[in-house]
Amino acid sequence: MKAIILYDSRSEGGSTDRLVDAIGQKLAGKGMDVEKARCRAQADYSFISEFDLVIMGAPVYYLMVSSQLLGALIQSNLSSMLKNKNTALFLTCGSPQPMAELLYMPQMKMNLQGSRILAEKVFAPAETSDMEVIGEYVDTIYAEWLKEEERRGKRK
Ligand SMILES: Cc1cc2nc3c(=O)[nH]c(=O)nc-3n(C[C@H](O)[C@H](O)[C@H](O)COP(=O)(O)O)c2cc1C
Repeated sequence: MKAIILYDSRSEGGSTDRLVDAIGQKLAGKGMDVEKARCRAQADYSFISEFDLVIMGAPVYYLMVSSQLLGALIQSNLSSMLKNKNTALFLTCGSPQPMAELLYMPQMKMNLQGSRILAEKVFAPAETSDMEVIGEYVDTIYAEWLKEEERRGKRK
């Protein structure tokens, strides 16, 4: 099973970079083949068809999900490539979780109609390096992915 983490951040080696690597490690620990790619707003995302699972996330800067990821969802073929695809979302931000769920998560979700969102998580600054919290997020994704595979098997 192949997974890709699509992400964006203004900081090289910042909290999102480290979180992406930790999510990748945890997924690899479950036997998944994991790749990562930094989003560009103007890019061709046809390569997404190779992957069974797309994990996607970015920080919030000035009340907006980081621009290259949001731009890719709005301007490129990314959202159409994600139709009927298993996805999981994450955000890194300083706002309290209820506010982030209300204000920031919908910025991604409104451009993801037709994809199967298996899990979503807002990571507070301290949680971006908390392996227990990251492990729980990955466990949820994996459990939901297994359920989806089972449902797909029954539909065949
Ligand atoms: C310039 C700047 C603007 C930010 N604006 C917001 C914001 O509007 N809302 C929020 O919840 N967090 C905001 N944050 C917090 C970041 O989302 C958070 O620190 C994130 O983990 C940064 O990720 P990075 O280390 O990959 O850049 C901001 C941080 C910076 C540096």
